[in-house]
Amino acid sequence: MINSQGEKDMRDKILEILMNNSNDFLSGEVISTQLGITRAAVWKHIKSLQGEGFEIESKSRLGYRLMAIPESLDQVTLREAIKTKVMGKNLEVHQTIDSTNNRARDLALEGADEGTLVISETQSMGRGRLGRDWISPKGKGIWMSLILKPDLPPDQAPRITAIVAVALRKALNKATGLDVGIKWPNDIIINAKKVCGILTEIQADIDRIHYLVVGIGINVNMLADDFPPEIASTATSLRIAMNAWLDRRWIIALVMEEIEDIYLKYTKNKDFRRLLDQYREYSVTLNKSVRVIGRDMNFEGFALDFDTDGSLLVKREDGSITKVLSGDVSVRGEDGYV
Ligand code: BTN
Repeated sequence: MINSQGEKDMRDKILEILMNNSNDFLSGEVISTQLGITRAAVWKHIKSLQGEGFEIESKSRLGYRLMAIPESLDQVTLREAIKTKVMGKNLEVHQTIDSTNNRARDLALEGADEGTLVISETQSMGRGRLGRDWISPKGKGIWMSLILKPDLPPDQAPRITAIVAVALRKALNKATGLDVGIKWPNDIIINAKKVCGILTEIQADIDRIHYLVVGIGINVNMLADDFPPEIASTATSLRIAMNAWLDRRWIIALVMEEIEDIYLKYTKNKDFRRLLDQYREYSVTLNKSVRVIGRDMNFEGFALDFDTDGSLLVKREDGSITKVLSGDVSVRGEDGYV
């Protein structure tokens, strides 16, 4: 059983060595000399890694060879999968946590770099937008939070959420080949059901964002039974949509690549108009009858367009146009509102 930080670091180092040499056997002696520990200690860590699900072949005289890694997320194997320069380069993987957004906020307050990513296999208090809970069953989804530090005034924070929504749309389309849409403001939709949500939390002065924590929840390998009855008819997972199990590491890497690409371009050229065109292209809300439910509004109308601040322009029955800044929007489809 590995329980101290020092032991964890040693486990990570041994795993890194095995990953970098997975074509060959590596003797316990070589590993022990490299790390300055006994061969018995190496053996103990190998046993423990095997207990976690790593397939490590062990042959007398030859040593150890890594054959396969488990599906569960792990700092070392995930770091290997993520090829980006900024997004996800600093990485924290937890087995369980209250909310990855809380942990990312604490790290941001301690001065963590832009692109720092916190992931957990499950969350005990995952939260969604508008004070809702977010269910995060163990090992079945991607529950993660990314720290961003754009040099922007706080009223432009919704743009960053829109950037992440476009990036997620692109990444999930690449991963599945399916038609993936964005329901305003930031739900990712497949087959008219929600597969992913974004919760952006912000710390700012009146004129400058200090940091944003962008929380992303992707239902990856959940089956219909994994959803509570209240969301069963409106939620889906990539596995349900594809009828196939998907590798979460690969999807995380794709999402980091897309966010890095779009975000870094935007922070360089600040051309939100181009981004908005893409957002329009992927939108399942535009040109549809919608019901808007906000803190102090509840009305039906027609979704006309998005404004450059990310708000939704809705034409009401009397012809007036209402600018909706936040809230929830149901889009009328063939089967009523979703
Ligand atoms: C929504 O659509 O309501 C937003 C859902 C956001 C869920 C993610 S899961 C990771 C991160 N941690 C949280 O507590 N929430 C976000």
